[in-house]
Amino acid sequence: MSHVSPYLHRRLPALAETLPHLALSERPTPVRELAGLGVWVKEDGAFGSGGWGGNKVRKLEWLIPDARRRGRRSILTFGGLGTNWGLATALYGREHGLETALALVDQPVDEHVRAQLARLEASGARIHRTHTKARTLALLPWLIARNARGAHPPYLLPAGGSSAVGALGYVEAALEIAAQVEDGSLSEPAQVVVAVGTGGTAAGLALGLQLAGLRTRVIGVVVNDQLRLDPPVLARLARRTAKLLERRGARLPRLRLEPDMLERPATRSAPVTATAPRQRRAPLPSPPRTVSPSTPSTPRRRWPACWRCAPRAASATPCCSSTPTGRVSVCTLATWPRPRRHGFISGLPQKTRSCSSKPALCTRRR
Ligand SMILES: Cc1ncc(COP(=O)(O)O)c(C=O)c1O
Repeated sequence: MSHVSPYLHRRLPALAETLPHLALSERPTPVRELAGLGVWVKEDGAFGSGGWGGNKVRKLEWLIPDARRRGRRSILTFGGLGTNWGLATALYGREHGLETALALVDQPVDEHVRAQLARLEASGARIHRTHTKARTLALLPWLIARNARGAHPPYLLPAGGSSAVGALGYVEAALEIAAQVEDGSLSEPAQVVVAVGTGGTAAGLALGLQLAGLRTRVIGVVVNDQLRLDPPVLARLARRTAKLLERRGARLPRLRLEPDMLERPATRSAPVTATAPRQRRAPLPSPPRTVSPSTPSTPRRRWPACWRCAPRAASATPCCSSTPTGRVSVCTLATWPRPRRHGFISGLPQKTRSCSSKPALCTRRR
């Protein structure tokens, strides 16, 4: 495999000494247009030359050398029974002298999961079936002790490898996209749509696209209902990754990685990884937003504030809330002219009626 230094090192030379990288794939992954759809796909499934490809391998290019830099001899990480992340870690870790232990929680077992479990067993990873997240947490001290090598504790990695170091894989991928834009392989995408399973891909892309000076927006489609993956969480991971770069000596331009720039969390839906050709230039680069294609955004109706919200009403968000007695105190019907009069305190009607019979009508306004 030909070794070229990563874009991150070329763009921020201070990192070449402080942030080791291990090439695990040829690059760049190809981009191609889906005929007639105006949508481009970056084929990151092709990333990885160690028998297993995909987005996890990009993360391992930074995680494996970080583990070695810290003198670790084993990795302990987490996932479901059919974890792609766990398999990639086991295969590439083994190739580079690191043992892998996996704590696996239950998931429905179908044909794919059965086949994946067989691959995991064949990979040489030590498998601990911990069944639930709670049991995994309770067993953590034992798992760490069991998988230490001599005086070296295992290198602990979150599910999906979505630590700040892991997210660098997609900072690098974003810089790769920027280079493909520069060499004319594709035009600057308006948006990049990615699955959000543990967040490292979307957070890394958002940071990397900004570093590259692209105005491409990241749209994350949440495909995991077991983790909190809302915009503040993704923005925090992007900021932690930026801080890591700074701690390692990089001087970064001004970045916008604020949660208030992010959309509301999405629900489970089909993963899509695509780049769309740019049609309209956005005014500023933005951090990732997450959307649910199954619930298209409709204009939100503006409701007057209830007694709880009234003091904040000028700027704020009317909300539903419960009084201590459990009766609903809600923002009132839009027709009511004096919203401050509405609601219940401690279950007693205050001056006038509320719309507690229709709490579902109360919505948050932006
Ligand atoms: C093809 C693909 N893209 C992206 C993701 C999301 O990756 P991450 O765990 O970094 O959010 C996943 C996993 O959920 C995936 O399978």
